[in-house]
Amino acid sequence: MDFKRHIAKKLNIEGIGEDELVSMLALPPNTEMGDFALPCFKFAKIFRKSPALIAEEIAKSVPADEFVSEVSAVNGYVNFKIDRDFWAKETLSRVLSEKERYGSSDEGTGKTVCIDYSSVNIAKPFHIGHLSTTVLGSSLYKLHKFLGYTPVGINHLGDYGTQFGKLISAFKRWGSREDVEKGGLRALNELYVRFHREAESNEALNDEARSYFKKIEEGDKESVALFEWFKELTLKDVSKIYKLLDVHFDSWAGESFYNDKMGPVIEELEEKGLLKESEGAKIVDLEAYGMPPCIILRSDGASLYATRDIAAALYRKQTYDFYKCLYVVAYQQNLHFKQLFKVLELMGKEWSKDLVHVAYGMVSLEEGAMSTRKGNVVYLEDVIDKCIQKAYEIISEKNPSLSDKEEIARTVGVGAVIFGALYNNKIKDITFSYDKVLNFEGETSVYVQYTCARANSVLSKGGEVSAYEAKDICPQEFELVKKISEFPELLSDALEKYEPSLIARYAVDLAQIYNKFYFDCKILGAEEKDKNFRLALTSATLQTLKNALALLGIGVPEKM
Ligand code: ARG
Repeated sequence: MDFKRHIAKKLNIEGIGEDELVSMLALPPNTEMGDFALPCFKFAKIFRKSPALIAEEIAKSVPADEFVSEVSAVNGYVNFKIDRDFWAKETLSRVLSEKERYGSSDEGTGKTVCIDYSSVNIAKPFHIGHLSTTVLGSSLYKLHKFLGYTPVGINHLGDYGTQFGKLISAFKRWGSREDVEKGGLRALNELYVRFHREAESNEALNDEARSYFKKIEEGDKESVALFEWFKELTLKDVSKIYKLLDVHFDSWAGESFYNDKMGPVIEELEEKGLLKESEGAKIVDLEAYGMPPCIILRSDGASLYATRDIAAALYRKQTYDFYKCLYVVAYQQNLHFKQLFKVLELMGKEWSKDLVHVAYGMVSLEEGAMSTRKGNVVYLEDVIDKCIQKAYEIISEKNPSLSDKEEIARTVGVGAVIFGALYNNKIKDITFSYDKVLNFEGETSVYVQYTCARANSVLSKGGEVSAYEAKDICPQEFELVKKISEFPELLSDALEKYEPSLIARYAVDLAQIYNKFYFDCKILGAEEKDKNFRLALTSATLQTLKNALALLGIGVPEKM
């Protein structure tokens, strides 16, 4: 049950609606004072009385009932105490009946949200730098779906640009079909790196690359076939990783998809008087907004990344009629998105306000920085593999008799990589460390998974949770109930802030509270009444932890 809503319904304050009251109800820092508090400072102006007096009057006007056990006024706040046994009963019955749907809602019904994430570049390495956009975007996708929205996952492939001319040139000079078939993306990257090295002393190579690129654009059969082959190889390689990470897309429309959709964009810009000539190029001048110009066409007539993004935004609006369109892209592209949104605004698209750049920080590896240009790349696949392998070693050592060790190690290892990228506030730069993400006692998915395994073991020993009642619950039990009951609201908050880290942190907090309860309170050895309630509480905790991890794309092994 939604306690805030229940309280708001009981309140009758002139001119203040129920929804506003719900949003005003806060959690007091100290639960001794109350479980919810209504600050009355805002009302002072309206009613021309002191907040303290208003709080007292409100408190007097609200009768207690079977849920709200006490209402009091303290220093301008109205404090509400909820009956703890009632709270526990309500919460458990909700979790245990809703199960994997606990926390879901229909707040997003009828709203389509486009989420542009991962957006890999064809024939370029899929490296650790792509981890955040991939897992952050995927989690936002799952979260939107869970809250009733219709998400559209878009992989805006980087499949257009002069680099493909370079690659064809390099392949024709030094590559072989067998090597590339076998080596996949890595073989392509080697060719690419070699091209750059050789081009340093051989200017002609760049001309050659340009002419191959031109051939792709003109539809030359051989060049297009090579390009398509590179694309296929890349997608085959990245799909392996998407599968491991449980990442899904509804659209793979990348940059080249907009080849034939930019004409109308340029016409519209022209018509609206937004295009200017500058050194042969066509630009939208953004000086008045404190930004460098957005280049639309280069002097040789070629379109740019931004041009394609303008076309893509128009296409998405037309195709999906989105409520919001999110771009999960590193903060290095802040300026690009500011320019993009501004140009669309200047074009008179009132929906440009619905475009959101969900920016995130950099991930680097503890072992040392990487440099794509020099070819020392940290492939995401290697990071995941290494995590799985380390998880396997740790699990085998801790619990040698475990069956399905490989399966479990995969769930634990993959989870650790995802959680490592999602645990911190997304804008923060992070350093990825294998030891840190695989620490059983740290703030990690492994810790949460281990807590789940503990709960599973309690439940399998305790048998089916049958009827339970909540009577005079103890503080440890109450803390757990309270945390579990906060889950649905936490999810709305995480969605509003585009911040899956809130879910990750919640899972760690809940696991810690459960473990405290587990060590302080007897479960299986308790008398029947307490035992039943504690088993139900264990089951509800497990369900909530599973639901939280699932929204991050992380599974939970039965045992570990
Ligand atoms: N492929 C680009 C990159 O790796 C990211 C694309 C992001 N999406 C977009 N619509 N611009 O930098």
